[in-house]
Amino acid sequence: MAGILDGRVALVTGATGGIGSAIARRLAETGAAVVVGYHSSENAAVRLLSSLPRGNHIVAEASVADSVGLAGLAERIGKQYGRLDLLVNCAGTTRFVPHPDLDSLDDALIDRIFAVNVRGVIATARAMRELLDRGDAALIVNISSIAGVMAMGSNIAYCASKAAVDNLTKSLARALAPKIRVISVSPGVVDTEFIKGLDQAWRDAQAGRTPLGRLGSPDDVADAVLAAATSLRFSTGVILPVDGGRPLA
Ligand SMILES: NC(=O)c1ccc[n+]([C@@H]2O[C@H](COP(=O)([O-])OP(=O)(O)OC[C@H]3O[C@@H](n4cnc5c(N)ncnc54)[C@H](OP(=O)(O)O)[C@@H]3O)[C@@H](O)[C@H]2O)c1
Repeated sequence: MAGILDGRVALVTGATGGIGSAIARRLAETGAAVVVGYHSSENAAVRLLSSLPRGNHIVAEASVADSVGLAGLAERIGKQYGRLDLLVNCAGTTRFVPHPDLDSLDDALIDRIFAVNVRGVIATARAMRELLDRGDAALIVNISSIAGVMAMGSNIAYCASKAAVDNLTKSLARALAPKIRVISVSPGVVDTEFIKGLDQAWRDAQAGRTPLGRLGSPDDVADAVLAAATSLRFSTGVILPVDGGRPLA
């Protein structure tokens, strides 16, 4: 696949996270110029940048709850590259709250989850739309989650936020066609910082309930993003599960 994205420009939000960094790396390995978007982890973004294969990559603050900042980022990308071919909305936030414990699911947490996971996807698409329109095969990939379908995950608001992402993938796909395709990549449990609070017994149980017998890896998700960008040329408004068949169990 080396060189398949030569000449393409990609923005990855949440590129400092476990999944986002694997996506940024895969896109760079296959030839794209990557905008490594970070929120609070500037040092991690710079480290990632310096570890990427040679290319016209940059690090940029991409705080998805800050629409003014996103407009500034679009201007910077426009000046530097002239257009955008691929937007990967990977930024996400959550905190573990057992579903029956509604009292711990406070308003501040609910608002933060929706501002980042839902409004952030819409706001980033809105800010980058004009740049995406300039290309000839633009794509938005939204990283949703199996939590949106199964209603199982770190907390009730998180599950609802990911269901919203899958839903708005369909609306955006219709609204932005034919210039821009929009696809959700929907991982099952992936071994990253996101699940660092969970013990080995929980991980083993999750793997045991997955027909393919293991947790997902960030590279599994990165490969799905690459497939969406390179192979699934006639697909839009679809949800692509990357979950080892977990709903079948
Ligand atoms: N891990 C899983 O099991 C799993 C499963 C399904 C779906 N997902 C989804 O995959 C995505 C990445 O998850 P991950 O496992 O890689 O998590 P992670 O390692 O915790 O990374 C989260 C990323 O989101 C960024 N972020 C948080 N708040 C932000 C904001 N306001 N603006 C912009 N960026 C923000 C963080 O940036 P900074 O570090 O710069 O603050 C970080 O890069 C998320 O959308 C998550 O919901 C994860």
